[in-house]
Amino acid sequence: MQSTFPEGLHVAIIMDGNGPWATRRGLPRVAGHRAGVAAVRRLVERAPDLGITRLTLYAFSSDNWSRPTHEVQSIFWLMRAYLRLETKRLRQAGARLQVIGRRDRLPELLLREVAQTELATAEGRRLHLRIAVDYSSRDAITRAAAGVTTVCFEDPPPSTDLVRGMLMQALTADSGEVDLLIRTGGEKRLSDFLLCESAYAELVFTDRMWPDFDVTDLDAALGEFRRRERRFGGVPAAPPPSAASSPGGAQ
Ligand code: IPE
Ligand code: IPE
Ligand code: MG
Repeated sequence: MQSTFPEGLHVAIIMDGNGPWATRRGLPRVAGHRAGVAAVRRLVERAPDLGITRLTLYAFSSDNWSRPTHEVQSIFWLMRAYLRLETKRLRQAGARLQVIGRRDRLPELLLREVAQTELATAEGRRLHLRIAVDYSSRDAITRAAAGVTTVCFEDPPPSTDLVRGMLMQALTADSGEVDLLIRTGGEKRLSDFLLCESAYAELVFTDRMWPDFDVTDLDAALGEFRRRERRFGGVPAAPPPSAASSPGGAQ
């Protein structure tokens, strides 16, 4: 189903750096994840005012299962608490929450909370908030590809363009492509997040640890985004005529 959200930016964030944030303060890593949840709360509230209508947050990757069990359990516990405590505020803020990723390996109690929040916020039209849990972009692409394989065996076989279109439709029907992808915590990689959806996203990497990332940082990242020229394979836009003809402009 095509998103019914008004046009606006789709921002995706790899929320990294909770662990180091805590370690630097001599705190257990889980304290960093707790502080990270507070950062989510602050940003979700302000995102629509900044022109963001779709926000996808990377909370737990399918590769994060390799972390110590107690850390994984704490993360899920914090997610559950977040959903339980925030549902009312999300509703009031006009946010529609959706969890993306695999569900078959998540704890039952978390799944129940997810279902309740998704239902309670289903009418939200100001912000489509997607939280990626047990998420792997390569998995998502594989599932989407499996969905289009039947047409591939038709005679005559469909064109590559058609298959590609169907695949992208399956991956982006929900929330469209990503305009701006931000990663906090100092690393500069995608870690299996929204690989197709970010094909033409602008990337912003910041050393700020996720618990410290606030609305000023988000605003700065948006400023950087607006200064960039998105070309989608085209040539740079011609300078406005006034710049070319003004004194000192291009000759
Ligand atoms: C990323 O990890 C966030 C989650 C997996 C929840 P951390 O913020 O703990 O940071 P690193 O990966 O230890 O640097
Ligand atoms: C990506 O961070 C996942 C989340 C932020 C949820 P990781 O910390 O797991 O990624 P790598 O291992 O550093 O690439
Ligand atoms: Mg990391």
